[in-house]
Amino acid sequence: MTRITRAYTNIALIKYWGKKDQQLKLPQTNSLSLTLDKFYTDTTAKVIDSDKDIISLNDTILDDKASGRTRKYLDTVRNMYGLAQHFQIESVNHVPISAGFASSASGFAALAGSINECLDLGLTRKELSILARNGSGSASRSIFGGFVEWHAGHSNETSFSEPIDEDPDIDLVLLSVVISEQKKSISSTIGMELSVKTSPFYPNWSTLVASEIQEIKQAIAQKDITKIGEIAEHNALSMHALTLSAQPPFTYFAPETVEIIQAVKHLRQQGVFAYVTIDAGPNVKIICNNNSVNHVNDYITQHIKNVSTFEAHIGKGIQYI
Ligand code: DP6
Repeated sequence: MTRITRAYTNIALIKYWGKKDQQLKLPQTNSLSLTLDKFYTDTTAKVIDSDKDIISLNDTILDDKASGRTRKYLDTVRNMYGLAQHFQIESVNHVPISAGFASSASGFAALAGSINECLDLGLTRKELSILARNGSGSASRSIFGGFVEWHAGHSNETSFSEPIDEDPDIDLVLLSVVISEQKKSISSTIGMELSVKTSPFYPNWSTLVASEIQEIKQAIAQKDITKIGEIAEHNALSMHALTLSAQPPFTYFAPETVEIIQAVKHLRQQGVFAYVTIDAGPNVKIICNNNSVNHVNDYITQHIKNVSTFEAHIGKGIQYI
């Protein structure tokens, strides 16, 4: 009986923003994330006697267009391992679009795990993180729980993720503030490509990430949550500066994104523990602790119109159920 593979989403505290190899999804820099406990994808893979993969999401079989990225990924996997088999893939996403998290990280991590499980490939988790990376860069980090570092590397074999602390005893809670359910206009794949090619600040970004990764790892080891928040917020805003300085310039921010950034700054001035991080979309994730999260939630929902919030805690790596 093939077990279900479950993988959770992760939030980058030091962002991955730019590839040096599009095909292999080799990033320009290392990145560092926290795996979350709330939002996940469950996937099962089965070998089928067919020359075409069958892919279903949330009990609906996807047509070629909707499943294009997954089909391409399965071809890559067949190439990597010299396989000829085709698969029936059944995925159930427990990452509500409305929660403001990308499902590609949990999705490709669960898919990589499910192929390993169905073919009994016996891959280590490091090898799984390589396999997941080939689907979506951030998926490589979702193989592990807690704090995870993805090493940029320079080849398929050397670009993998590694846990820093899978079960950290640290007082951090993430509040996702959703301000828009609209599909983002520029995918992260395109957005990062534009930033690498045209932002005059891109070389500085690589230097900044190298030093912020070292600093945040030290802060994690010392459980210094203020330092973690400061570095994560600065890193996220610096990533968004790359979009504003691209040619042509673009931004993922909506007016409410800026309002939330300002509200969080205001809360901090009142002594409340809160820092923002933002991915390739308008929604804001607020890094809180157990003491601040309810207060932050109340303040944001009272002061910013039409937002919904989701609370998440530190989560585990992939599980077989
Ligand atoms: C802003 O992993 O979605 O969330 O590798 O092209 O699939 P592809 O990109 P993706 O990019 C994530 C970008 C980010 C930052 C991060 O998660 O590190």
